[in-house]
Amino acid sequence: MKTNTILSEPENIDTNLLVLGVFEKETRDIKNIDSLLNNSISNTIKSKEFEGEFKQDHLITTLGKIKPKKLLLIGLGKKKEYDLEKLRKLAAMSAKYAKSMNLKEFSSNLHSSVIKNTTSKERVQALMEGTILGLYQFNKYKTVDTDKIKYIELFNILTDKNHQKETEKAVESGKILAEAQNYVRDLVNGPASEITPTYLASEAKEIAKNPNINLKIYEKDEIKKKFGGLYTVGKGSAENPKMIVLDYNPNKKKTIVFVGKGITFDSGGLNLKPGKYMYSMKEDMGGAAVLLGLFSVLPKLDLNFRVIGIIPTCENMPSGTAMRPGDIITTFSKKTIEVIDTDAEGRLILSDGLSLADTFKPSAVIDIATLTGASIVVLGYYAAPVIGNNQKLVDSLIRAGTKTNERLWQLPLWDEYKELIKSDIADVRNISKYEGYEAGVITAAGFLEAFTESNWAHIDIGGTSWFPRSEDYTPSNATGFGVRLFAEFLKNYK
Ligand code: BES
Ligand code: ZN
Ligand code: ZN
Repeated sequence: MKTNTILSEPENIDTNLLVLGVFEKETRDIKNIDSLLNNSISNTIKSKEFEGEFKQDHLITTLGKIKPKKLLLIGLGKKKEYDLEKLRKLAAMSAKYAKSMNLKEFSSNLHSSVIKNTTSKERVQALMEGTILGLYQFNKYKTVDTDKIKYIELFNILTDKNHQKETEKAVESGKILAEAQNYVRDLVNGPASEITPTYLASEAKEIAKNPNINLKIYEKDEIKKKFGGLYTVGKGSAENPKMIVLDYNPNKKKTIVFVGKGITFDSGGLNLKPGKYMYSMKEDMGGAAVLLGLFSVLPKLDLNFRVIGIIPTCENMPSGTAMRPGDIITTFSKKTIEVIDTDAEGRLILSDGLSLADTFKPSAVIDIATLTGASIVVLGYYAAPVIGNNQKLVDSLIRAGTKTNERLWQLPLWDEYKELIKSDIADVRNISKYEGYEAGVITAAGFLEAFTESNWAHIDIGGTSWFPRSEDYTPSNATGFGVRLFAEFLKNYK
């Protein structure tokens, strides 16, 4: 989709459809257009056909009285309750409306309605995010009736003389971030037969064409010698494992490292998952995909520190060469792990990723992983648990997530929980003692903590990486949760 900022009064823009926001009991903002339309807007409000309630819509044919052929009124709800997230949702809603009308082009002035404590730049960015994320569709594999698939080709954003430059800039940043998120969705939605560790490595190579990004990929032989966790999980699969290390601004001293779980398919291994729980397990590289999305936009964020992205990636399969319950692994840190359950494989590959992160002497390490089904039990699909050993780091992640509406909720990591992952015969065990399921999110984090000596935070996207239904700007299946969050976090990182 092309985007265009247009310097025009709403009534003068030559467009198929113009989207306008209307607050409940507020017609001041649209007075001018209303009088040009012989009060048809205020009349619909008077007749209670449209009252500006949040998510209400009303279509008006303008009959040549103003330049736009049609006007879509969108209810913004109560002025004091309106915020950037509501704007994202309404942007998606109106874009989908335009698409369903089979329009190829439409225009919006939704961002001009004022939101308390926000700048016009933030509103334009939110408009772009909602629009591009809301229009996402994954139809790469469709071959039948493809001519019936609807696409918007051109989106016009209105601006005025005083805001033109900043509008253009905000359009660009919203677009970059939303497209990165859609790229993550594509990777996660892609079938595991295609999105293999080798495929993720080839994507990393593409990204590393940027002159400020270096890339190192550890191959199977070296992985076998160094990264026992990753090697052991991957050895049941016909796909070769990879340890991918992306390195942005490699010459800067201050360093922050991200680690992303890249299980391209999680069958559970010999502790095979039941079919119902296996279907969506192509999503188990969601953390890795977020890092690829992040690195694809990093050069545009203008950061003056080093950012490293570590992606341990392999496939978890049952076979004659697969790891067994009871096996003991020596990891990169030399610590040993007793495998109790082969389905708790994410933490095994992350153990190597986290210890490798320490070697860069970073000021912070953040891992992101579809680590537990328990994350869905605690928070459902609307927020991700965050756990860490450094409160300042956790707080700044939570703050970034509040801004982008990729919400994080902190869980504790008290000593009693760490006791649960101690093994009788090795250093740690890969699921907690007793039933194995109590406090699943926390004990998984307790395991990870044993493999980091840095300021560290862990984000469990087991619940937020995949959405079983479609709402607002989130389509069903892959969500791309995490990219905008990390970009926002980095922008503010000191
Ligand atoms: N990849 C799964 C976690 C998962 C489940 C992510 C559902 C997204 C949706 C992970 O490897 C796993 O299987 N974890 C187990 C851990 C258990 C064996 C302690 C789980 O959550 O059941
Ligand atoms: Zn698993
Ligand atoms: Zn997994």
